[in-house]
Amino acid sequence: MNKPFDFELERLTGQGTDAAPRQRDFAHLSMRGTFFLETFGCQMNDHDSEKVAGVLLARGYRQVETPEAAGLILYNTCSIREKAAQKVFSRLGEYRAKQAEGKIIGVLGCVAQQEGEDIFERAPWVRLVCGSASYRKLPEMLAQLEAGNHHVTGLDTDTDETFETEITRRDNPFRAYLTIIEGCDKACSYCVVPYTRGPERSRASDSILREVRQLGELGYSEVQLLGQTVNSYADPSPRTMRFAELLLAAAEVPGIRRVRFTTSHPSDFTKDIVEAIESQPKVCEHVHLPVQSGSTKVLRAMQRTYTRDEYLEKIAMIRGAKRPIAITTDIIVGFPGETPSDFEETLSLLDEVRYDSLFSFKYSPRPHTPSLKMDDAIPEEEKSRRLAILQDKQREIQTSRNARLIGESYEVLVSGKSRREGQWSGYTSSYRLANFTSHANELLGTYVQVRVTGATPNSLVGEHVV
Ligand code: 5AD
Ligand code: SF4
Repeated sequence: MNKPFDFELERLTGQGTDAAPRQRDFAHLSMRGTFFLETFGCQMNDHDSEKVAGVLLARGYRQVETPEAAGLILYNTCSIREKAAQKVFSRLGEYRAKQAEGKIIGVLGCVAQQEGEDIFERAPWVRLVCGSASYRKLPEMLAQLEAGNHHVTGLDTDTDETFETEITRRDNPFRAYLTIIEGCDKACSYCVVPYTRGPERSRASDSILREVRQLGELGYSEVQLLGQTVNSYADPSPRTMRFAELLLAAAEVPGIRRVRFTTSHPSDFTKDIVEAIESQPKVCEHVHLPVQSGSTKVLRAMQRTYTRDEYLEKIAMIRGAKRPIAITTDIIVGFPGETPSDFEETLSLLDEVRYDSLFSFKYSPRPHTPSLKMDDAIPEEEKSRRLAILQDKQREIQTSRNARLIGESYEVLVSGKSRREGQWSGYTSSYRLANFTSHANELLGTYVQVRVTGATPNSLVGEHVV
């Protein structure tokens, strides 16, 4: 999914850009001064791409919307499951002919980190391979490419620095993403992230808050703090601000009306986060808390660092808040050794928690992960069967949960406009998608009250109350 940016750089940065004079330096290189950036994967990847675009723009490159128009084609990849990783090589095959036209092709992100220089073997037309932990070296790497170096790599993960840029070109006009912690120090046995993104590195709180202030000044009212384990945040500065304090401090910034955060790890989910949500309406009442399995035996094999009961204690703490908090999760079915009764435990967990929404996946063996070598693989058809059962159950839960909201009113940040006249969409603070009708002319980017008149498993239907 390629997302063209629809904002002026000046508006986003609040400052003039030196892109124009530098653009002239590249004029003789014709298309060499242009880039096309395609992104797959999670929000962290989306946001990395925004920062990569910022680095390139600051160097005088211009972003274009097709690979045909670009001198530099960058592909930011995902390797969390096998299907995503396979896509990369078929796409690189398509780009082969482009290299013959003199274009530079680069692979970024998790597949770059995972496959490393092997990518040059499989696709010799690729000239840049750079994992996310090395993005801070991108300017040097670009200089090497511009100097004509054929194969340039950035594959270190042993850095204790985070990737900060002067300019980030944000492509979501309504919500600004902000990485506060990179990498992951957990060691879930199925997960390639600790390998592809390296160890955990938190950004200093003053630098994060400076960026939130800039975002507020630029007109963003919603910020989303990102991290693979966002609540494991450990301020490296002498201020040693706790994660919950950071949420509250971000909410105090002028112009900011909503502070979101994702993804939370259950083991690091502490009471003060719930208290921050209770005490400050601007901290969104939504927690994404992946459980992965309802069976303590499977959780142990996954190295998830909590039992079913410990997880349920966290849920009870969140559900006990003075303000209702939406809870969503991730679940993997068919982990090696998952018996029918383990799977039943996952289903019973759904009944107990009654999540507002969930993402579910069939287990996918990944390179460099401990579970790759585990016996007792579950056949693909059985994984598919379990996935379908899980999704059916969750659909029922969501249908009844959402139906209970009919008659309520919520504030919605309007982020979408349907082609159909008078139809709009947006998210509530609890991250429910609302499709609603309004007679107003222009609502994008504004906050409106929506009364819920109907519900589907995945969205609310409503009308604008003026
Ligand atoms: N197979 C299937 N799902 C996975 N996830 C991570 N690694 C794997 C894997 N190897 C899922 C987890 C995680 C989400 C982002 O992706 O549920 O929370
Ligand atoms: Fe992967 Fe586990 Fe880290 Fe999440 S917490 S990124 S699942 S290793």
